Amino acid sequence: MNRLHPQSMYASVREYLQGLEESGIDGLPLEELQQTGGRPWEPEQPQEPLQPAAPRSLDGLRQMIGDCQRCDLAQSRTNLVFGAGHERARLVFVGEAPGADEDRQGQPFVGEAGQVLTRLIEAMGLKRPQVYICNVLKCRPPANRNPHKDEINTCSPFLVQQLQIIKPEVIVALGTFATQTLLESKEPISRMRGQFHNWHGIPVMPTFHPSFLLRNKENKQHYWDVWSDMEQVLRRLKLPIPEKKKRA
Ligand code: URA
Repeated sequence: MNRLHPQSMYASVREYLQGLEESGIDGLPLEELQQTGGRPWEPEQPQEPLQPAAPRSLDGLRQMIGDCQRCDLAQSRTNLVFGAGHERARLVFVGEAPGADEDRQGQPFVGEAGQVLTRLIEAMGLKRPQVYICNVLKCRPPANRNPHKDEINTCSPFLVQQLQIIKPEVIVALGTFATQTLLESKEPISRMRGQFHNWHGIPVMPTFHPSFLLRNKENKQHYWDVWSDMEQVLRRLKLPIPEKKKRA
């Protein structure tokens, strides 16, 4: 019979408990385990900190996030908005953070800005379930204020894991926050859009956020800028570019 070495047994128990704690289960004896070292039969020795295994599916990641209380946005949110769409999507859209409608429904981009995004996706000859849509922040900032740096730092690792699971061929970063977070840049969106950038080997096309288009409806040029960015995306995906008629 294979006998487990006490140290690896301890590591397995600790990893298992950490996983449970990550999924929101309280009252686990993790602290006691860490204090005693959990292995009184051996002298203390420096160890690499153990990370819980990274989830391999979106469902697994969602479970790991659990009833997230990692930042203050948990106090004011109604629903955590994880993301929606195809687990193997070739194209992922990343927005900023849920708004009021998204917070209420627990789904990304379902409000007015969401309708603009849906029309854009359909103008590209695609349907929402064929792509994946998510945000940098999974919870709504009160009164739709801008995300705070510490909230981005706390939440963006989940975005990274979503992208690592989906492995899309192209990412569209919608607006300043998604672009600056993914590309670790401080450049304004107007300077970044219109050309591909690189996120761990995946091309990223920054473009204007649908809310920006809504706030500047009179400026049709912004809309055509977004469309020309999407034409580049379609070309990169080797998808046909639907004829888009200019409205007067
Ligand atoms: N704006 C965003 O950035 N994300 C949403 O989900 C909705 C509006």
